Amino acid sequence: MSDARRRHSVMVRPTRFCNVTVFDGSGAPGFVADVEIDGDRIVTVGAATGVEADEIDGSGLALAPGFVDVHTHDDLAVMTNPDHGCKTLQGVTSVVVGNCGMSAAPVSDDPLGFSHYPRLADYLRQVEAAGPAVNVGALVGHGTVRAAVMGLKSDRVPDDREREAMVEHVAAALEDGALGMSSGLAYEPGRYAAHDELVDLAEVVAAAGGVYTTHMRDEGRDLIGSIEESIAVSEATGVALQISHLKASGRDAWGTTAAALAVIDAARQRGVDVMADQYPYTRGSTLLEQIVGAGALDGPSAFAHVQPADLLIAAAPGNPHWEGRTIEEIAADEGVGGREMADRIVEAEGRNCFVIIDSMSEDDVREVIRHPAVMTGSDGVPGGSKPHPRLHHTYPRVLGHYSRNEGLLELADAIHRMTGMCADRFGFVDRGVIRPGAFADLVLFDPGTIIDTGTYTDPTTVPEGIRGVWVNGERVVADGAVTGVRPGRVIRRPEGR
Ligand code: ZN
Ligand code: CU
Repeated sequence: MSDARRRHSVMVRPTRFCNVTVFDGSGAPGFVADVEIDGDRIVTVGAATGVEADEIDGSGLALAPGFVDVHTHDDLAVMTNPDHGCKTLQGVTSVVVGNCGMSAAPVSDDPLGFSHYPRLADYLRQVEAAGPAVNVGALVGHGTVRAAVMGLKSDRVPDDREREAMVEHVAAALEDGALGMSSGLAYEPGRYAAHDELVDLAEVVAAAGGVYTTHMRDEGRDLIGSIEESIAVSEATGVALQISHLKASGRDAWGTTAAALAVIDAARQRGVDVMADQYPYTRGSTLLEQIVGAGALDGPSAFAHVQPADLLIAAAPGNPHWEGRTIEEIAADEGVGGREMADRIVEAEGRNCFVIIDSMSEDDVREVIRHPAVMTGSDGVPGGSKPHPRLHHTYPRVLGHYSRNEGLLELADAIHRMTGMCADRFGFVDRGVIRPGAFADLVLFDPGTIIDTGTYTDPTTVPEGIRGVWVNGERVVADGAVTGVRPGRVIRRPEGR
């Protein structure tokens, strides 16, 4: 901790939220109470103690545990931009990094190009040194591990030595405090992995009590088969399975979420520990290189069959004038076909180009959001001038649009799916909950006005209705702006070691 940050901590007085409606993160209805925090913890929930404290009038406002973003790609962003306003301004106090098979360790040539750390412990120490505003927990990425051992392009089964080396990398990461392992089976190199390889690694995760999250092989026409494949890994190992950003991608798959959820329900009924997360939008976002590489512009694929008009450039650091435009529009300017333009963009931008894809039906999004085993996760991708608005607006959108305006979820339930449910799933101790003794990770908001304000063309605005955000007892957001205080910590499993 830097001197500046320590000095700040010493100066913090107890804070009392008076007459606020408390949603404790369990899904129970809100109740009006006074809540006092001191140091990094919640001290009382109920009547005020009379201790001298800074008072905040909570009349008409909701106080919830800080939101836990279970699905992020913030691995480097928490260090390069440690205030991390994209997340704190929407009420997020903890992020899980290392998703979709891609993590910052071990060193490898993986598709996101940010795996520069020999061990997860090295990365986590670096995060601590950077001192972000949010708490950070990490998964180890299967794709990163596979690329480290076998390279990015090996489309074969690992031999015994390679399998052993992969097991060792995953075990080392878990020893370093990884929350579990993620896979990205639609991506290179994850798509070369078969059942046995995933089972060997998931076994190690299960033994450590970790979670296995998966960006499935196919979220389009083979959605059901991919869910069955994921469940088979959990059934073979007992690992807790988290299906990432559950969706039916591409027109051919629209309407299949009910059947997909039925497969999940059936597995849960026979005792398989499977849950999922979702971001509240009908468009997705990913690496253009992977979409082109999977053949998505040429026919049905793991990313469905997409057209150049469906692809909006979110990030193209070498050609920022492309950002916010579709590949079809750029192609027209350049006087080439859309398919050709996509190849040219990949050639120019490589792994730095992210696109937004129009891919889901609103009905499917609504079907998934209400399922009892589904929590919220942004899947935001920091970078570029036109990131998918989920990066800045996921949580206010669920609370304001889907809960209040559309009535799909009770407020207490919606909050549970972004707090207590997430903390339980990812093994966070004393977080995601409001009770005496828990960490003072808190968000104060106006349930009558909270709303997302970001659009696909103007995504980086500040959401409305968030009055304040506290991380480990220190205020990181006030009056719709970050305070510059950065009290986040690294969360290692099992916490408290
Ligand atoms: Zn993903
Ligand atoms: Cu992701």
